Amino acid sequence: MEAASSSSSSRCSYEEYKETVDWLLSHTEQRPKVAIICGSGLGGLADLLEDKMLFPYKDIPRFPTSTVEGHASRLVFGKLQGRECVCMQGRFHFYEGYSMDVVTYPVRVFSLLGVETLIVTNAAGGLNSSYNVGDIMLIKDHINMPGFAGQNPLCGPNDERFGVRFPCMSDAYDRDLRALAKQTAAEQGCDSFLQEGVYCMLSGPTYETIAECKLLQKLGADAVGMSTVPEVVIARHCGLRVLGLSLITNKVVTDYESNEKANHEEVLRTTKQRTQDLQKLVSHFITKI
Ligand SMILES: *[C@@H]1O[C@H](CO)[C@@H](O)[C@H](O)[C@H]1NC(C)=O
Repeated sequence: MEAASSSSSSRCSYEEYKETVDWLLSHTEQRPKVAIICGSGLGGLADLLEDKMLFPYKDIPRFPTSTVEGHASRLVFGKLQGRECVCMQGRFHFYEGYSMDVVTYPVRVFSLLGVETLIVTNAAGGLNSSYNVGDIMLIKDHINMPGFAGQNPLCGPNDERFGVRFPCMSDAYDRDLRALAKQTAAEQGCDSFLQEGVYCMLSGPTYETIAECKLLQKLGADAVGMSTVPEVVIARHCGLRVLGLSLITNKVVTDYESNEKANHEEVLRTTKQRTQDLQKLVSHFITKI
């Protein structure tokens, strides 16, 4: 599937998703109930799986392919702590030029595969002044900024086979799963750097200006990033339960006198350090659902 700038020209039909799903079902015997989307630099989670089956995106019929640095590009089926799951190593970002349909394509595939729970991870900038670099934030809620600008992945005709026309989003991030994640974090000694807050999505690829950061803080956002929200919207539409985790890889700049600058290398470096903890958290969490 090619990157496309117009969402209407690239809407995917139910039959297209089915084609992908049927191909996957015929190529693996695994029937995972949990899917994990690995964010920037967090693909190592998929390497922990046992009895792995790897499917490069380019080999999967109808599946899009990803381009950003720090991302492998494949679906990994396998067992994490004995629990079957499927990981997306490398996600599709809106800023790469993909339509929202393409960005969220894998989520509907997961749903049709029989997945019931989606775990999404990302690297995000910390807006909340009490957050430290390396903190893990449980996503409690989101602000869909591209949605404000008409880029909601559910714009366009609604296919009832996936979900209702006007889906509820007030319960997007499952309360029970968050409680379970907090419990897991306490057991794993991760609670000293666990936060819970609101994730705001911007389209990117530019990082935020100082004025934009101040605005987002006023709006009640605790972290900001360029992903996750479209996938969560589509997941909720088709009835998946969602757990979202942001790794705070940098603190945003809110001071005009500061010489600090946001950069992608810093994000990848910090991610590397706290990745182990995040992996530990997710792999123990998964045994509890
Ligand atoms: C920041 O995070 C802290 C700790 O989680 C929270 O109590 C606070 O409400 C958040 N927001 C602001 C604006 O400080």
